[in-house]
Amino acid sequence: MRCSKVGAVICISVILLCSSCSSVLLKEDSQPITAILGAFNKEVMMLEEQLTDKQQQTIEGMRFVTGKLHGKSVVVAWTGIGKVNAAMTTTLLIEHFRPGEVIFSGIAGSVNPQLSPGDIVIAAETAHHDMGILRADGFYNRGVINPLDGWRNPVYLPADKRLLKLAEQAADQVVLETIKTTVGERTPKIIKGVVVTGDVFVASPAKCAELRERLNADAVEMEGAAMAQICYQRRIPHLVVRSISDKADETAREDSMMFQEMAAKNSATLIAKIAELLSSQLPVEKSSKRR
Ligand code: ADE
Repeated sequence: MRCSKVGAVICISVILLCSSCSSVLLKEDSQPITAILGAFNKEVMMLEEQLTDKQQQTIEGMRFVTGKLHGKSVVVAWTGIGKVNAAMTTTLLIEHFRPGEVIFSGIAGSVNPQLSPGDIVIAAETAHHDMGILRADGFYNRGVINPLDGWRNPVYLPADKRLLKLAEQAADQVVLETIKTTVGERTPKIIKGVVVTGDVFVASPAKCAELRERLNADAVEMEGAAMAQICYQRRIPHLVVRSISDKADETAREDSMMFQEMAAKNSATLIAKIAELLSSQLPVEKSSKRR
């Protein structure tokens, strides 16, 4: 009698343990990891600091930090500046972590005159501004052939529609710190737009005008389209979010130094909100896919 009671307790414990194990596995399975990249330390540090269950690993010399951001499994890394570094880190990350999506967070110079430091551009599209054909009569944008399928990449690499929608929801919900200006305080603006990428820090009003005219750019930076191209070619959802640190004009270097912390923080705040929305959305997505 006593023996059978003990047996029953063991049996129930084993059943409970197994069911909790399988739910852990199911939960992990249902949430592919989200990759969050930034070009330099400051751009990802604010996100890294918010992680729980933080673990660090070094792969091929690059540091990757995994953990939970508002309940969402994420891997965070900084790529280094420029397109080659961004492409290298994105590829490394995809091979090792198989992320469900890749999001780039960071700062940019504004090309749209309506934007000021602290404002955010959610990139509906990214484009390489230095990829194409330079003819005697000017520069013509052109995507390169994707070596994985032989098709030519578009000039504008589109962000994933679901991530874009989530980012817009996040933009409606997020609370950003107000910015002090010479004429008082203002709340940062968040727009959906075009972010262009090239291996050059732009500090030239003439170049800004050209980027606006040629590509309808809102912001310019040095990594986004490289990450987007890798993800596009590998068919992995991606999104680029950038907050303005300077106006890509004559004082861009100094302005970027002065505003980069605030801009990086604004971008990270929006990304954290997107992670929160992603974490609450995934179980719904999975069950709807199963039906
Ligand atoms: N990132 C931040 N500001 C930038 C600029 N003006 N040009 C290129 N990348 C940038």
